[in-house]
Amino acid sequence: MNILAPSILAADFSRLGEQIKAVDEAGAQYIHIDVMDGMFVPNISYGIPVVESLRKVTDKVFDVHLMIEEPIRYVKAFAEAGADMISVHIEACSDVSETLNEIRRYGKKCAVVIKPGTPVAELTPYLSLVDMVLVMSVEPGMGGQHFMSGAFERIRMVRQMLNDAGSMADVEVDGGINEGNVRDILAAGANVIVAGSKIFHGNVAENTRNFISLMNG
Ligand code: DX5
Ligand code: ZN
Repeated sequence: MNILAPSILAADFSRLGEQIKAVDEAGAQYIHIDVMDGMFVPNISYGIPVVESLRKVTDKVFDVHLMIEEPIRYVKAFAEAGADMISVHIEACSDVSETLNEIRRYGKKCAVVIKPGTPVAELTPYLSLVDMVLVMSVEPGMGGQHFMSGAFERIRMVRQMLNDAGSMADVEVDGGINEGNVRDILAAGANVIVAGSKIFHGNVAENTRNFISLMNG
């Protein structure tokens, strides 16, 4: 079964708990939490206390996407706040393997992320170390952008590289995903789908159910 990870970046923050309950009850398996530091990306979102509070409203997997410089500094804090899976950008780490080790040290699943301009070959040293690879289909930093069609080929390449390395790791895609392109993204080799604006703008429960049926139909 393919996994839907609604990105709460597009939620109404004054009703965050309620909206997370809505995606949870509608069947989303993950909650995608975008953390931005104003350095690695030109935007600031939310951090550790928000993860900690949200942990009380759902048991779903917290898929924490760290868009921060040297994320190794905050792995412990996010792990203790309730993250289940922590994704780090290879462009943001001076030592990617050590950062992944740090995530494992706290018993959490780990993933590496690549921005649209980073060659997929740069993932090679980490393929056997990760539970998931996250392929960005927009420049990280903002919700509501257009899906970059070059991502299709990158998804295919990443899935093939993982298969060749004997890895069953998941392939997650993030940015600009809608009801019109989600099936093509899955067909390219992704199995975890992040969607923000298309889930949280409008009727949250209905949008979630629509995505889930499209993704598994
Ligand atoms: C972008 C974030 C995404 C974003 C996706 O930096 O990583 O998770 O919230 O939002 P949409 O689905 O609106 O592109
Ligand atoms: Zn994200």
